[in-house]
Amino acid sequence: MNVEDNNESKAKIHTEWELLKSECASCKKCELHKKRTNVVFGRGSEDADILFIGEGPGEDEDREGKPFVGRAGKLLDQVILALELPKSSYYIANIVKCRPPGNRDPKPEEAAACIPYLRRQTKILKPKILVCLGKVASQYIYNKDVKITKDRGKVIKQKGFIIIPTFHPAYLLRNESGKKYFWEDMLLVRKYLHEMSDKNEIR
Ligand code: URA
Ligand code: SF4
Repeated sequence: MNVEDNNESKAKIHTEWELLKSECASCKKCELHKKRTNVVFGRGSEDADILFIGEGPGEDEDREGKPFVGRAGKLLDQVILALELPKSSYYIANIVKCRPPGNRDPKPEEAAACIPYLRRQTKILKPKILVCLGKVASQYIYNKDVKITKDRGKVIKQKGFIIIPTFHPAYLLRNESGKKYFWEDMLLVRKYLHEMSDKNEIR
């Protein structure tokens, strides 16, 4: 592809992304729109090879309009920093983009209404690695019967993605002992990222 074509396709991708973002900003497809302060679209690099997927915004995220900015998010950021993952390598989003009241799990109909947005984000981003943070994300992304304590760290290759399920960072705030497993899983994430860049599979 020559430089002009490449710039043109980058501009097209950027426009698709912005359109999707504005569509989400006014979405009322499920009940969760009623109590939200902000729609939480995502944060990170639009060139990401890793997509971290959480469950849904909490109170801090709802207020700030960004995912994983509360205590669990700080923990996730610390681990990402310790792994020295480049800022350009990851994006963070959730199964649902509006806060479930009282931080309950999203209902199946809410997840079903919202996941098509995440799917469209994924199609535009084209990440190689999906990291499912916790049970809810894992259930909706690849297996409704997942048992996260048993299945974390078990890599799944599906539809061209490398899927890595792990604990939710909020769980680690309550269960110190899970941290070492989370770290192991994140080392796997980094290993796959490095392997792909060695093979030049990364765009
Ligand atoms: N927990 C999540 O699952 N997502 C967030 O964005 C914050 C906390
Ligand atoms: Fe729309 Fe998703 Fe918010 Fe429901 S959670 S209102 S589907 S953006």
